[in-house]
This record gives sequence, structure tokens and C-alpha cells, in this order.
Amino acid sequence: MKNKSLVSISDFSKDEILRIVELAADFEANPNQDLLAGKIVGSLFFEPSTRTRLSFETAIQRLGGRIIGFSDASSSSATKGESLKDTIKMVSNYSDLIVMRHHREGAARYASEQSSVPIINAGDGANQHPTQTLLDLYSIYKTQGTLENLNVFMVGDLKYGRTVHSLLMAMSHFNPTFNFISPNSLKMPTEYKMFLDSKNIKYYEHTEFTDILEAADILYMTRVQRERFSDHLEYEKVKNVYVLRNSMLNNTKNNLRILHPLPRVNEIHTDVDDNPKAYYFEQAKNGVFARMAIMASILGLK
Ligand code: CP
Repeated sequence: MKNKSLVSISDFSKDEILRIVELAADFEANPNQDLLAGKIVGSLFFEPSTRTRLSFETAIQRLGGRIIGFSDASSSSATKGESLKDTIKMVSNYSDLIVMRHHREGAARYASEQSSVPIINAGDGANQHPTQTLLDLYSIYKTQGTLENLNVFMVGDLKYGRTVHSLLMAMSHFNPTFNFISPNSLKMPTEYKMFLDSKNIKYYEHTEFTDILEAADILYMTRVQRERFSDHLEYEKVKNVYVLRNSMLNNTKNNLRILHPLPRVNEIHTDVDDNPKAYYFEQAKNGVFARMAIMASILGLK
């Protein structure tokens, strides 16, 4: 893992994924370590973020590292027309590791080819969000005691939602059964279903989820990704298509946990928040420990 970029979750093997989960637990037990002392992390957010950016910053600061970068590309020379290639070449001269979020699919892979230091993909368009996936796996492991043989329900925008794409690929190591619930216009892309077919992993597709939640171990809700729609009217048609309400959880399994990468808009009613099965805020907290584990592994510090 040392000096390896994390661009796609498929860059990490099953053993490497399990190692991150194990390390995240160690960091949760002991979060204040000086492992990043003397290290500088470049944090380049070309797209907005609350959790990913701030949990990386928290992780870096708790580990004694320092941060350079921007949270708004309009304050960078990208607005003067500087290319991503040149930006990455500059920042890799200044830092030991780069965390980057970009609106274009493939931008993180391209950056990793230009950079002299490892790149961590903090989300590239509708493609991948591998650090979210590692915190999701840590959350699933913590709540279920295993990653194996789980019934995972994914609901909402499965077309543009990068978190479900990365999570699907990572869970494929652990023999899951998937249920995909989406409007027809936002179905899981064919390439991901073909990937599951190639691994003999079962999946079922639905357009409604009101009466099918009894078997779920993990209910992964997602936001309809307004920023990825070219036609605003298409977004309006689907934006509130699924709303999870507390009353819908009555016949669900005791071990069910509701995850959401956040931010939520309307897809989880606030009456779910106090249900012990709601786990999305703890999930976001787990992001600090998972990101500590990722950075420490990539920098060869653990
Ligand atoms: N889950 C996630 O990526 O949230 P942010 O967009 O706030 O970083």
C-alpha cells in the first residue's frame, strides 16, 4: 500500500481493505498520535464538501500533520486557466500526499499519473469515492460484526451516486446480496451490474421499497445528485421519489442499520434520526478514523 495512490476502490485488494478496517479501529481507540509530524498534505477540493474535507483535516491535525490547499477552486489559479496537470505538478512539489475532489470522472486517475506523490481520490464526478467506501465498510463491520454475506439495499440515485459504485465493488469481496431501488432513469449502470454478474453476486432491481425492507442488514440511502443533471426538469421529476420514514422500519431486522453518505436532502425524514437503526451521523464520524488509516497506510507509517 505504501506510496500507492487510492483512485478507485479496486486499487486495494481484499486484504488491504481489511487492513484499513482494522487500522481504523486502532485509530478510533487511540486517535491522537503524532504519525504525520513533519508531513504536509495537499487538500484540493474543486467541488464542495463538508464531511470529506473536514474529516481529512481533522485526521491530519490529530495525527500532527499540516495542510495546504483550497476548499474552493475559485480561489486557485484554475480560474486563470491553469490545467489540472500543472496544478498537480506544483502541489506535488509542495506536499507528501494529495487529497483531491474533482467534478470530472477520471480526474483522480489523471492526477495520479502526473503526480510525484500519492493521490487520494476524494470523489471524481459520478465515478468513485473510495475513502467514503472505506469508512462505509468500517461502519458496516462495526455494526454487523462482519462484512460477509450481508443483504445490502441501495436506494435512490444509483446512476450518478459515486458512493454506491465504490461500495458495490468493495462489497463484492464479501459475498453480499444486493437490492437496488431506484427510478428507471437512475438505475445502477450496466457496467456495475456486469461486474456483479462476472463475480456471481446476486442483485435484484426494484422501483419501490416500502414493503421489501424486512430482509435488509444495511439500508444505504442516497441523495439524488442534482449537480450531475444536465436537464433540471428531469431532476425535478425524481428529486423526492423516495423518503424513508420511521414507520417504514417497524418490521425490519434488529441488526438493520441505515447508512447515508450525507448530505441528505429529503430522502430520510428527520423522524428516523432517533431510531437506534439510524447510523448516518456515526458513519460520518467514522470517516475520521478510516481516513487516518488510509493516510498512515499510504505514507507507510503503519
Ligand atoms: N459524503 C460526502 O462525500 O460528503 P461531503 O460531500 O460533504 O464531503
